[in-house]
Amino acid sequence: MYSLKNKNIIVTGSEGLIGKSIVKNLIRNKAKVFLIDIKKTNNDKIKNYYYCDLTNKDLVSQLSKKIIKKAKYINGLINCASVQDKIEDKKNFLNSKFENLSIESWDHMIKGNLNSLFICSQVFGKYLIKKKNSFIINFSSTYGMVAPDNSIYKNKFNKQIFYKNPAYPASKGAVISFTKYLAAYWGNKGLRVNCISPGGVKNNQDKLFIKKYSEKTILKRMANVDDISNTVNFLASDDSNYITGANIVVDGGWTSI
Ligand SMILES: NC(=O)c1ccc[n+]([C@@H]2O[C@H](COP(=O)([O-])OP(=O)(O)OC[C@H]3O[C@@H](n4cnc5c(N)ncnc54)[C@H](O)[C@@H]3O)[C@@H](O)[C@H]2O)c1
Repeated sequence: MYSLKNKNIIVTGSEGLIGKSIVKNLIRNKAKVFLIDIKKTNNDKIKNYYYCDLTNKDLVSQLSKKIIKKAKYINGLINCASVQDKIEDKKNFLNSKFENLSIESWDHMIKGNLNSLFICSQVFGKYLIKKKNSFIINFSSTYGMVAPDNSIYKNKFNKQIFYKNPAYPASKGAVISFTKYLAAYWGNKGLRVNCISPGGVKNNQDKLFIKKYSEKTILKRMANVDDISNTVNFLASDDSNYITGANIVVDGGWTSI
């Protein structure tokens, strides 16, 4: 447990798989959380939820004023919103082939993963630098460091059923360098900027996929959401006060072998 008492923290992508776990964990550690997503929340108990398209700077600017009016100050921003193609979503295989990929699909992912990060960091960053020990946590991926191994996306007949969109690794690689840029830029203001690179998180994928994925990790399993949100708690707490510009890899050793 880390004490995050009196910390006001914004979580984007709060309705996603990892976002939900982050929110739960931050609240358990006594933080006050402000949630933003383009997906409507189905949790009536959540008070501070805001619907917003984070790729639209005007909307994010308006929203920031609303949040600041209510929160008075913010200590942290967790940029977890993202556009991705997951194997469990069972998208059309032919469209996922690089040769067939549309520029619209590339643009959509680059915009969703990078423009949103740029906009949120810029808009909320100006409030964060007013507080001591403030932080931004970005989300990259193992695929921001190494290429997707497409052999894990084959069915039991050894037939390819999915390819990861190349805009995903391209955008996630950029998240790591953008994190370093911001850490260096805002270091003199005491604002720490770090990045987490999760490996694949278990989420109703089929058994064969889970088996293939697990075999490629040192710990022989996929991540649980808590593995990721526990790391968020550490980076959000004062226990990580000397860590900035880092990419914390939470992948069970996938990228180490
Ligand atoms: N799940 C994994 O296995 C995994 C692995 C590696 C990295 N990651 C990274 O972790 C982060 C969280 O992943 P996740 O699995 O929770 O993703 P998710 O797809 O479950 O959730 C992402 C959330 O972002 C929201 N979002 C997307 N575009 C938005 C926009 N324009 N404005 C506002 N909200 C928007 C979506 O509505 C969704 O609720 C992502 O950055 C992802 O790339 C996830």
